[in-house]
Amino acid sequence: MTSKRSSLHGQWSSRWAFILAATGSAVGLGNIWKFPYITGENGGGAFVIVYLVCIACIGIPLMMAEILIGRRGRRSPVNTMRTLAAEGHHHPAWQYLGWTGVLAGFLILSYYSVVAGWALAYVFRAAGGLFDNATGEQIGELFTALISDPERLLAWHTIFIVMTMIVVSRGVQSGLEKAVRFLMPGLFLLLAMLVGYAMSTGSFTEGMAFLFSPDFSKLSSASVLVAMGHAFFTLSLGMGAIMVYGSYLPEDTSIAQTSIIIAAADTLVALMAGMAIFPIVFAHGLEPGMGSGLIFQTLPIAFGHMPGGTFFGTLFFVLLVFAAWTSAISLIEPAVAWLVENRGMTRVMASAWAGLATWIVGLGTVFSFNLWAERKLFGMSFFDLLDFATANIILPLGGLFIALFATWTLSRRVTKDELKLGRTGYQLWYILTRYVAPLAVIVIFLNVTGLLELG
Ligand code: TRP
Repeated sequence: MTSKRSSLHGQWSSRWAFILAATGSAVGLGNIWKFPYITGENGGGAFVIVYLVCIACIGIPLMMAEILIGRRGRRSPVNTMRTLAAEGHHHPAWQYLGWTGVLAGFLILSYYSVVAGWALAYVFRAAGGLFDNATGEQIGELFTALISDPERLLAWHTIFIVMTMIVVSRGVQSGLEKAVRFLMPGLFLLLAMLVGYAMSTGSFTEGMAFLFSPDFSKLSSASVLVAMGHAFFTLSLGMGAIMVYGSYLPEDTSIAQTSIIIAAADTLVALMAGMAIFPIVFAHGLEPGMGSGLIFQTLPIAFGHMPGGTFFGTLFFVLLVFAAWTSAISLIEPAVAWLVENRGMTRVMASAWAGLATWIVGLGTVFSFNLWAERKLFGMSFFDLLDFATANIILPLGGLFIALFATWTLSRRVTKDELKLGRTGYQLWYILTRYVAPLAVIVIFLNVTGLLELG
């Protein structure tokens, strides 16, 4: 019969442990920080619809593909790809897919950590009562003061990388699993409260209209690319994070069901963040397209005006840090798992090296907000360029090849055996992963490059 392996790094204790960990990976800064700000920059409703379609038609099938590949291989993405390619007598070059994933994880974590550092800094600002009755302008100044100070950014970035590496070094069971259990529900409750506050601002309808009524004339092909890239980013797809988590998944867990639960939870959190933020933006005459500082310049206004705002504000940023933390560990796990497997390092050593490398690349992002603010490549700062290249190019490309591997290279016997779906369910997954997702990625890429040539 089929060979069933087990992972060298252990296994999740149950299906729920996996769902929590994968949701912890998916729900993070992408939902609460990035989704609102790119929605603001790309004109709202129409962008949100494209994003939702991408989640359903590309994201979920691809998440299933990543999990099944991971569980089949039971190793770090690099070695999983190598093993599965060798077993099926496929081309050994498939292992490079694992490598691009390791690279993407590094690059993303390097700037993710800097933004998580902003959230850390805001825990102390909230606790110190700095938001009390502050105007939009004062809150804006607080934010500018933070990002224009390289030393402070560096300190927070360093603290966040160390936090991440401590959890990663403790391993799957004791490290990754425990961190998620209480935090997700807590974050969810706080967001619900913020949406409640947003309803009282008087601009709730305006905010909802911005988020949900589509105006397709505002949608450029570049916006479509950003929406698709974000679908990958927010679900942690295209670089092996979900693959490596899948490699710790017990044999009898339904991959389809878990993928849908994870994607639904992730989407709900993003939409709630948008519903909390845009009413505040409009109520205070702020600009939806103000960029990466959006949540840091809107939510503090809400906390500054609500009863118990110091407490709830502090709690919110603490939970945001935790959400970022549980995402960050998945960004570096493929690299750490590989160092342990192939370099014979202990988890602690592997984490230390991976953390150091990420920290160094992160300096570029730290400086891009101050010392290097004027240095631009393709009209973008180091941070913007890194974010653009990873989320909108490397992840969709990685996802494209993962989809091709799962449906053109791996035999149907293998994918059927892992997915254990009924006939219709399997066919649906197969068509989406074999044709729809790859074609969508290619068409969206071509559209944008065509546009660049014209421009
Ligand atoms: N999904 C996370 C977020 O939305 C970020 C993240 C974690 C990620 N692991 C990833 C993004 C792997 C891309 C790939 O914040």
